[in-house]
Amino acid sequence: MSVSVLVGSQWGDEGKGKIVDILCDRFDIVVRFQGGANAGHTIVIDDQQYILHLIPSGILREGVNCVIGNGVVIDPQALLDEIKLLEDHGFVVKGRLFISHNAHLIMPYHKILDSLNETGDIKIGTTGRGIGPCYIDKYARKGIRIVDLLDRVELEKKIRANIEEKNRLIKNVYNGEELDVEKIVEEYLAFDEAIDQYITDVPTYLDNAIKSGKSVLMEGAQGALLDVDFGTYPYVTSSNPTSGGACIGAGVPPTQISSVFGIVKAYTTRVGYGPFPTEMLGDDGEELRQWGAEFGATTGRPRRCGWYDAFLLNYSRMINGIERVAITKLDVLSNMDEIKVCIGYELDGKRLKSFPTTTSQLEKIVPIYETLPGWKTDITEVRNYDDFPAETKNYLSFIAEHSGFEISIISVGPKRDQTIEL
Ligand code: GDP
Ligand code: IMO
Ligand code: MG
Repeated sequence: MSVSVLVGSQWGDEGKGKIVDILCDRFDIVVRFQGGANAGHTIVIDDQQYILHLIPSGILREGVNCVIGNGVVIDPQALLDEIKLLEDHGFVVKGRLFISHNAHLIMPYHKILDSLNETGDIKIGTTGRGIGPCYIDKYARKGIRIVDLLDRVELEKKIRANIEEKNRLIKNVYNGEELDVEKIVEEYLAFDEAIDQYITDVPTYLDNAIKSGKSVLMEGAQGALLDVDFGTYPYVTSSNPTSGGACIGAGVPPTQISSVFGIVKAYTTRVGYGPFPTEMLGDDGEELRQWGAEFGATTGRPRRCGWYDAFLLNYSRMINGIERVAITKLDVLSNMDEIKVCIGYELDGKRLKSFPTTTSQLEKIVPIYETLPGWKTDITEVRNYDDFPAETKNYLSFIAEHSGFEISIISVGPKRDQTIEL
């Protein structure tokens, strides 16, 4: 079996892009299986930074084919912009990108409704990319899929019916501006021509590839704690970034999955609202944000920063089935005199046995910390595990032991060569 799933293990932005780029030289195909252009995966090659939102990070490696599965929600403009950006930088996309005919399309009204939803009582702090409203339509069985682009008459009918309904909602509930049907129909009909060549029956494509001995890496977006079922609901995204989502989002059966690899930041960040038990507020949080350059790759928003949470990671390991991990951004902790690690949660004076996912409980949590000595040494040039200071090795074994996984990659900077494989 040769299908590996790579997942974000915290609240996203763990460095998935960088690690997929490292790993995919040993895979034939990289697949995105959920989310959409809410993701921002950064890869740095020879001082040039690329941020990918929809196309798998494998596109930057020659010889690797890339697939966008049915579980992804596709913003046509974002996709075309990304293809253009890659081609402008000399990367070949044609013949290497395969898009599922069952993937749903983000429509202009999804983005409008995404921002209008944020004017209500519960604010999620979404990326504004139309993700939630698009998945709502998918499950309400009103969505428009890539395959609909192939039948112009039906497509036009579906767009008109949707816009009529959305216009009523936008006008009567939100008092917003109605959408221009003709303009949207024209735009999507033109999109059909641009992406026709990429449309693929993905489950069959992957089945044939696996049967002929090809290896597949499934690239998760977001992170386990943003999972709509297992995350800190309602402060989550609208898909399943956990490993189970890989099967549903690409049409690969569970019997084909051979391993689950977690990407773990050496501390914790989250963007948007929602509970965050180990958050560092004030100057400490600001300092970590500056050291880690923690600003969103998609929206540029400052990321909230906090200590490593081994209790959360244990939960993430359990629901994903993570065996081995890459620890990223270890270099960012180099300035610290002391580093705290959360090893458990206390609620109303009692130590919790399992991770709570309700906001009210998470907001009352008292994290139990252990304090470890910092290493106060620049580690960005380290290339062998043995060359790490004793305090760094101590930190790594401490977090591995308390999270219950094995570390097999350590990242000490954004570049390809700033990577240590164990
Ligand atoms: P993703 O969404 O999980 O792919 O992560 P992002 O790309 O949103 O955020 C990770 C950021 O950290 C990017 O700017 C990366 O270039 C950067 N990065 C990745 N690994 C390391 C590392 O080991 N050290 C440092 N300092 N930066 C890293
Ligand atoms: P990558 O793949 C970090 C967060 C948003 C918001 C919540 C819901 O780069 O790790 P949405 O637009 O999805 O409806 O927003 O999820 N969020 C992310 N946070 N990294 C991401 O992706 C994210 N994608 C969505 O900030 O809190
Ligand atoms: Mg990101």
